[in-house]
Amino acid sequence: MNDVFLQLQQEALAVFLKIQTLEELEAARVEYLGRKGRLAETMKELAALDESARRDAGKTANDVKRTVEASFAATEARVVAGAAEARQAQEWLDVSLPGTVPAVGHVHLTTQAIDEITNIFRHIGFVRSRHPEVDWDYYAFESLNMPKDHPARDEWETFFVGENGEVATGEKGKIVLTPHTSNGQVREMEKGELPIRMVSIGKCYRRQATARHLPMFHQFEGLMIDKHVTVTELKGVFDYFVKRYFGANRETRLRPFHFRFTEPSFELDISCAVCNGTAKVDGAKCKLCKGGWLELGGAGMVHPNVLKAGGLDPNEYTGFAFGWGVERTMMMRSGINIDDIRTLYKNDLRFLKQF
Ligand code: PHE
Repeated sequence: MNDVFLQLQQEALAVFLKIQTLEELEAARVEYLGRKGRLAETMKELAALDESARRDAGKTANDVKRTVEASFAATEARVVAGAAEARQAQEWLDVSLPGTVPAVGHVHLTTQAIDEITNIFRHIGFVRSRHPEVDWDYYAFESLNMPKDHPARDEWETFFVGENGEVATGEKGKIVLTPHTSNGQVREMEKGELPIRMVSIGKCYRRQATARHLPMFHQFEGLMIDKHVTVTELKGVFDYFVKRYFGANRETRLRPFHFRFTEPSFELDISCAVCNGTAKVDGAKCKLCKGGWLELGGAGMVHPNVLKAGGLDPNEYTGFAFGWGVERTMMMRSGINIDDIRTLYKNDLRFLKQF
């Protein structure tokens, strides 16, 4: 019987030596030291021996049990430590590695243009103001010398606000999405603070969607009202803006035009950057402009009826107004060449990231 125990001990120790994983460790424990393990089963056989043989073999059995348990404990310590080490090696973290850089965005190029335009006008005392982008037709048309049903209104392809096919009407007429920022003119005068040097930049809406037109776009509206303001000031402000925004070599001109709310009215042109105002590139006609000039936007001296609508006496005050599209202005600046204005609002990051 003693030999049986000693052989079992030898076998167990040899197996323990080879154990590498926690799974093998548990299997070996069950096999040799478990309640129904090899050692326990062999010990049951002691009962069949006579007393002196049982005492002798019993002593060996106890020694073997202690040795196997001690060896198992040492094996367990070795395997558990090894497993921890292996995990450490695997999950090791190099804190000196550079981290994942979070994506940092920037403002949209239209917002950049709005900021830039605001800054240029601020240098000559124009204050940025905001006016409603959903407004009564009174401010969008009527107060601008366009009485109800006046055909000139058709030039602004206006969205009306309403419900169930009915146009909503408020205390000052129908409610529109502002088709231009000129609604800010009379609103600014109504504040009653003079002189006025305003630049109002906002969203405008028109029923149009082509490569050159968006249903939503931005305009900036300049308004200067004081005593003795003349076309000279208008031209001066326009020149200043164009040279700051487009470049010192750009020229400007006023071309007679017609608006109901200014008299006289002009269209503002700037010399073309591609042909430098000559209308020719390498002997051929310039592809960008018409005759050396690009059309920028509308302007004029504020009509006396508009001054009256704003509560001002046209014999005392005069002023000029101008207004044109931010997107168009931005695209006309040399260097930015977008052939479809809708590209601006497609939210394609490959495009937007370039600016
Ligand atoms: N509001 C006009 C437009 O949308 C532009 C303009 C503004 C003209 C101010 C004259 C004065 O076309």
